[in-house]
Amino acid sequence: MSVDIEKLLRENIRRMVPYSTARDEFKGGKVDVFLDANENPYHTGFNRYPDPRQQKLKQKIAEIKAIKSSQIFLGNGSDEIIDLIIRTFCNPGRDNILIHPPTYGMYQVAAETNNNAVLKVHLKPGFQLDVDEIITLAQNHVKIIFICSPNNPTGNVFNPQDIEKILIRSGAIVVIDEAYMDFSDKTSWKEKLAEYPNLIVLQTLSKAWGMASVRVGIAFAGERVVQVLSNIKLPYNLNALSQEAALKALDGLEVFNRRVAEIKNQRQWLRSELEKMPVVQMVFPSEGNFLLCRFSNALEMYNHLLANGIIVRDRSSHVLCENCLRISIGTPDENRLLLNVLQNYT
Ligand SMILES: Cc1ncc(COP(=O)(O)O)c(C=O)c1O
Repeated sequence: MSVDIEKLLRENIRRMVPYSTARDEFKGGKVDVFLDANENPYHTGFNRYPDPRQQKLKQKIAEIKAIKSSQIFLGNGSDEIIDLIIRTFCNPGRDNILIHPPTYGMYQVAAETNNNAVLKVHLKPGFQLDVDEIITLAQNHVKIIFICSPNNPTGNVFNPQDIEKILIRSGAIVVIDEAYMDFSDKTSWKEKLAEYPNLIVLQTLSKAWGMASVRVGIAFAGERVVQVLSNIKLPYNLNALSQEAALKALDGLEVFNRRVAEIKNQRQWLRSELEKMPVVQMVFPSEGNFLLCRFSNALEMYNHLLANGIIVRDRSSHVLCENCLRISIGTPDENRLLLNVLQNYT
């Protein structure tokens, strides 16, 4: 099924003339006096508006990720981008999104905020996608299918052939959320952007880059999708401090690689240690920076950890996650402490 992006866009968004900032209108030339944006002329370090197009940061990401700058959209965390993508394609009260529980919760929240129904196709036991059901259900006014791979909270990546089928046959925009991809050995779906115009890939600086408080999310997409998202975003969605801090972090590729390697080592070690414990029923394989772990009684274990100053995420109310806690990989010291506390449970 070929996908025409223009037809999937909301009509009002497709036609919209974006707000033009003072700095957008200014085209080149040397300027010493800025009297165009009603800024305060006195220097505070912060008196000028930040670059609304985030050109330096996009350029840096483009170099690292080997992709064109024009295929990058930046948001105030990927959460902002999820919200923007929904508002770009889904008419309130009319269009639907599709998700595969158990998965990340913000797709549903963002859709419901925009009054879009959320259709759900549960993962199959073994945590893989129910492709045929997804493609069938996608014919019900579904504009966007969110696929989270590696999936939060299960930790696994999905079979590429399944995702490919959905890209080809659903007729919808397919957003692949790769927030945890840096912890996986698999290749990013952004390599397939030229093949699939309906593909949007999300990544973030919040996880492997260790920059969660700075709020920088990244979308890789076709140029038209990037253009439309840029048209509807708030002009200064990334503040100057965030842009600067992100640029600096992205210079530290060596530290990044070292830390990711350490977290992956710890993930493997922690998994094997947890598996030895009688209170642990199952530790699911993970390609993220967390482990989904099934206990005989998750709530009791959660409370026991909390009583000892350790907080984890209780996912036991989620489908297929009965009695499961999601445990982020900490530093070696933190992981040892976690194991000690679990060991002391009587
Ligand atoms: C799958 C997934 N996507 C996106 C996010 C949010 O990322 P950001 O910090 O970039 O908004 C999270 C955060 O936990 C996540 O688990």
